[in-house]
This record gives sequence, structure tokens and C-alpha cells, in this order.
Amino acid sequence: MNAPKLSRRTFLKLGAATASATAVPPLVARAATPAPPRQPVTATLSMHVNGKPQSLTLDTRTTLLDALREHLHLTGTKKGCDHGQCGACTVIVDGRRINSCLTLAVMHEGAKVTTIEGLGTPQKLHPMQAAFVKHDGYQCGYCTPGQICSAVAVLDEIHDDIPSHVSGSLTTRASVSATEIRERMSGNICRCGAYSNIVEAISEVAGSKA
Ligand code: FES
Ligand code: FES
Repeated sequence: MNAPKLSRRTFLKLGAATASATAVPPLVARAATPAPPRQPVTATLSMHVNGKPQSLTLDTRTTLLDALREHLHLTGTKKGCDHGQCGACTVIVDGRRINSCLTLAVMHEGAKVTTIEGLGTPQKLHPMQAAFVKHDGYQCGYCTPGQICSAVAVLDEIHDDIPSHVSGSLTTRASVSATEIRERMSGNICRCGAYSNIVEAISEVAGSKA
């Protein structure tokens, strides 16, 4: 059977009509409305820092480290890894050393916080600070505030009969040996490798305390 003959004009008209019937309607551009930024939740916090009462209103996500450094301008405490791995941020809270980068400031309402600035002054060094100077327990000094805060707390832990992984007994007082000191200070990393001098400094203070 022969197909009907179409003129070129008729063919084009038919094509145009088909195309318009099947055209996809244009998409309606939806205006992307960004969600308004969420306001940070804040809380007011009171602490004793280096013996002084402090009141701070902070974003509740602020770490103790950032509260000390950025809000109280106590920059002696250092931020190394910000992940609890180097010990540079060690401070003493209610008598125990902690990594201040791993804890929120709002968790320490009413706490007594001691930083390197609260241990001694250039004119009147804490015995541990003096021993670090005497034994060259630092090179660049970046880890040193955390090392010293940790060392002060280590001697208190031993005097409080808190055993470590290398203590020979869980019930008797640990000796202040180099092994005990190395184990207890193992969370404080020194990239300059001043470890042997740090142990000597701590041992000297421990000897004078014992
Ligand atoms: Fe806190 Fe490294 S900065 S452990
Ligand atoms: Fe430089 Fe310890 S003195 S990292």
C-alpha cells in the first residue's frame, strides 16, 4: 500500500503541532529559602580560676580550653591536638588533671581550676617549674605548661595512693620511680623529646616531697 504523500509545508506544520503538544512545561523555579542560622545556646558559668572567681557567659559548646584561652586570656595552657592526644592542654580541676580540650566548660560549674599561671610566677616559681628550668625539661616549651600541671598532679596521685598500670600493688603506695613517672606522664607528649630531663625534674621534686 502506498503511503499518503505529504507536502513539505504540511509535514513541518504537523511536526510543530506534535512538538508543542508533548513539550515539558517549564519547571517553576522554587526560591531556595535558606534556614535562618540557629542562635547558639548560651549559659552562664561560675568557676574559680587560679584562685579568682570568674563568671562567663558562653556558648554551651565551648571547651574548657577555649574558655581559658579565648575568654579568660590565660594562654599558658596550650592547644596541641585539640583531640585529647597530646596533653598540651592539661590543667588541674578540683585537684585532678584533665585534658581541657576534651571537656565542656559548662560541665565545671563551681570548679576550682588551676592553670600554669596559677602555679607560680616568674618571681616565685612553683618547685616543679623551678625543677623543669634546672633540669632543662623543655626545649620549645610548647608542651611544658601541660607537662608541669600533669607532673604536679602525678605526685598528688601517688601521695593519694592511686595506683597506675605499672604499680606493683593496688593497695600499697607506689614508689616514685622513673618507671612510675614515665607511665603516669605518658599522656603528655613532647615533640622535642625532653623526656629524660622531665623525669629528672619530677624525680627531684618527688624526692624533696617524700
Ligand atoms: Fe588537648 Fe592535645 S590539645 S590533648
Ligand atoms: Fe617542645 Fe616539649 S619542649 S614539645
